Amino acid sequence: MNDVFLKACRGEAVPYTPVWIMRQAGRYLQQYQAVRRKVDFLTLCKTPELAAEVTIQPVDILGVDAAILFSDILIPVEAMGMELEFIDSRGPVLSPPVRDEDSLNRLSVPDPEEKTGFVMQTIRILRKELQDRVPLIGFSGAPFTTATYMIEGGTSKNFLNTKKMIFRSPELYAALMEKITRTITAYLKAQIEAGAQAVQLFDTWGGIFSPADFREYALPYVTGIISELRGWLESRNAGHVPVIYYVGETGGLLEEIRSCGADVYGIDWRINLDDAARRLGSDAVVQGNLDPAALFLPRHGIEGRVRDILGRASSARGHIFNLGHGVLPETPPENVIALVEMVHHLSGE
Ligand code: CP3
Repeated sequence: MNDVFLKACRGEAVPYTPVWIMRQAGRYLQQYQAVRRKVDFLTLCKTPELAAEVTIQPVDILGVDAAILFSDILIPVEAMGMELEFIDSRGPVLSPPVRDEDSLNRLSVPDPEEKTGFVMQTIRILRKELQDRVPLIGFSGAPFTTATYMIEGGTSKNFLNTKKMIFRSPELYAALMEKITRTITAYLKAQIEAGAQAVQLFDTWGGIFSPADFREYALPYVTGIISELRGWLESRNAGHVPVIYYVGETGGLLEEIRSCGADVYGIDWRINLDDAARRLGSDAVVQGNLDPAALFLPRHGIEGRVRDILGRASSARGHIFNLGHGVLPETPPENVIALVEMVHHLSGE
């Protein structure tokens, strides 16, 4: 098996820097669009054969060192009892928004196999079809980012409903976070049981907090999930499954997140990786951090950025190359293919 990615997660020596791309299965690929013309996005997520097919597309097309399960962070939220729709011009819509005790009480902590069995089935198919070609990453939203979608009812600009709940009704917020955390913990365990070989927690909106508020209102739930997963894996003698913690706008929060127990920290592009590594501590493994828009540069421009990132990452204990956020739908696929080649070539010299 190509285990370069898993070795890098553990901070072990690797022959070259492994690379995968957040949102590597998606609209920038015409092969993805061909599948999407047949079914809507949620149906795609819930049809294991199709979800597995689009998961493998970027492995074939780009030559990345890991596959990431095709799904969405809002799938377990629907399983908790919210209505979920994806509307082309607006993105996800969740209803009714969770703003009071009533709407919270209507939500359950679902059994992952019973309510999201299609995800576990996708993972089982993928492990067979990938035949250990590359490892499979499972994922979930981190509790806070998941909560923002539930409280706002979708995407938000200023997260005012979320912050209002935190500051006006902290008990309600804590009860919601508890329910989400239990849901996500069970969901990730089920993914690992089904065959996920690493997991990533996406905290896309973590950067909206001051460091002190992040430490109080987001971080403890992440730390809780990671330590619960570690204890569970140990009790089953199940070996080590790396946990990657990605936070959007990571720069202000590095001193906070470094205590959460993750194996790898996903970093966005607003901070240099050498700076991030220094502030995380010398034993940190980092993932990132090319600006997704840099894939619109001419080839030599992309190469300059790759060289810069690889150079800066050499001060970390380990590095997995990635973008600082998901690949943009208009991105020319040939530039993504070239990026993967560059990372492999330039880091393996
Ligand atoms: O990385 C991968 O290739 C795996 C699949 C994946 C998707 N979403 C597929 C998707 C993953 C890991 C996600 C995570 C996700 N989903 C996050 C966290 C990471 C991030 O990007 O910030 C968030 C916040 C969501 C919620 C979500 N899903 C939004 C806000 C949207 C609409 C915006 C958009 O990009 O269209 C989605 C839809 C979505 N999720 C698409 C894909 C491929 C596009 C759906 C389509 O085909 O029309």
